[in-house]
Amino acid sequence: MLSLGIETSCDETALALVEEGQILGEVLFSQVDKHSIFGGVVPEMASREHLIKLGPLWGKLLRHTGRRPEEIRIVAVARGPGLLGCLLVGLGFAKGLSLGLGSLLVGVNHLHAHLLAPGLEQKLEFPALGLLVSGGHTSIYRIDSSVDFKLLGRTLDDAAGEAFDKTARALNLPYPGGIYIDRFSGYAPPDPDMFPRPYLDNKNLDFSFSGLKTAMVNHIRAHPELVLKSPLEATADYRPNEQLARVCSSFSLAVADTLVIKLRRAVRQSGIQNVILAGGVAANSMLRDRISRLARDMDLRLIMPGMKLCTDNASMIAYCGEILAGQGLHHSLELEAVPRGQNVPWDYLKLKKNAR
Ligand code: KG4
Ligand code: ZN
Repeated sequence: MLSLGIETSCDETALALVEEGQILGEVLFSQVDKHSIFGGVVPEMASREHLIKLGPLWGKLLRHTGRRPEEIRIVAVARGPGLLGCLLVGLGFAKGLSLGLGSLLVGVNHLHAHLLAPGLEQKLEFPALGLLVSGGHTSIYRIDSSVDFKLLGRTLDDAAGEAFDKTARALNLPYPGGIYIDRFSGYAPPDPDMFPRPYLDNKNLDFSFSGLKTAMVNHIRAHPELVLKSPLEATADYRPNEQLARVCSSFSLAVADTLVIKLRRAVRQSGIQNVILAGGVAANSMLRDRISRLARDMDLRLIMPGMKLCTDNASMIAYCGEILAGQGLHHSLELEAVPRGQNVPWDYLKLKKNAR
């Protein structure tokens, strides 16, 4: 079934068409440059940009794929968690389209979509453990099927991506800074003793990154020479000095080690050998390397998405929508947006078998 995915939960406006688990086309407008100078996403500006960009992107997607609107059977939309105003723009667009086209409206949990995204490239096997590491979330899930997710652990304060971005901000790097810290890390080996591995002295699968972030910010305060004079200095060919590169790689290693230690614990506790890594921070080289080592040591079947599927995109929303609709699950036009910090309810309506 041809599924349209709509993603507007933060600062990427994205649409995609997916059919039988294959991406037919995707269009994306990233607002990163607009928010960069403010050091973070400005919610009202982001909503307004979604409103401006969705229409032109819709035309571009149809031209690019050569498909007609009437062929779209599923309108899948990210319904949260995310920035409320941004989600409302996507939901309004989705509801209008599903009403006009007479297609099935499917609200998608943005986090579940991240976790299933690698299924667009590789076959997922269940049960699986899902490690979701993004700008707003750091969580471990038990996934028994593509529609059965159980949260095993989550961050009690900052998400790993947030720790990367706040560190980058303290270094006067552009927003979002994770990718810069990652690139700079490549220029010097890490010092494993420079930063702590936080919140490990317990038996649970929760995370806490605020202590590590504070340790990093204090280190930067004590070494003001690390800070760039302007974010504009961080051009594509900017080469950090040895000291800055080492701080970045040591910080990246502290984050990666912490995630790997909890993931190893989750494997031991659950006995599950399939592992899915997902979310924007899944693009981080140090994390990918350390998790790959863990997979080799513990003989795990590790699934890591390609770079484009790590960060926010609409293909993962369309794909998740196709899976849900395949189970007869959908929403009415009363579908609600769920802001950050709130749980996304499992409030699907179920189609009768012969109505599909
Ligand atoms: O999943 P995502 O695109 O958006 C959310 O749903 O949050 O994740 C964005 C986060 C940002 O914090 C960004 O700095 C981080 O992912 N990120 C990275 C890398 N690429 C993106 N962090 C570390 N290394 C990277 N290569
Ligand atoms: Zn995301």
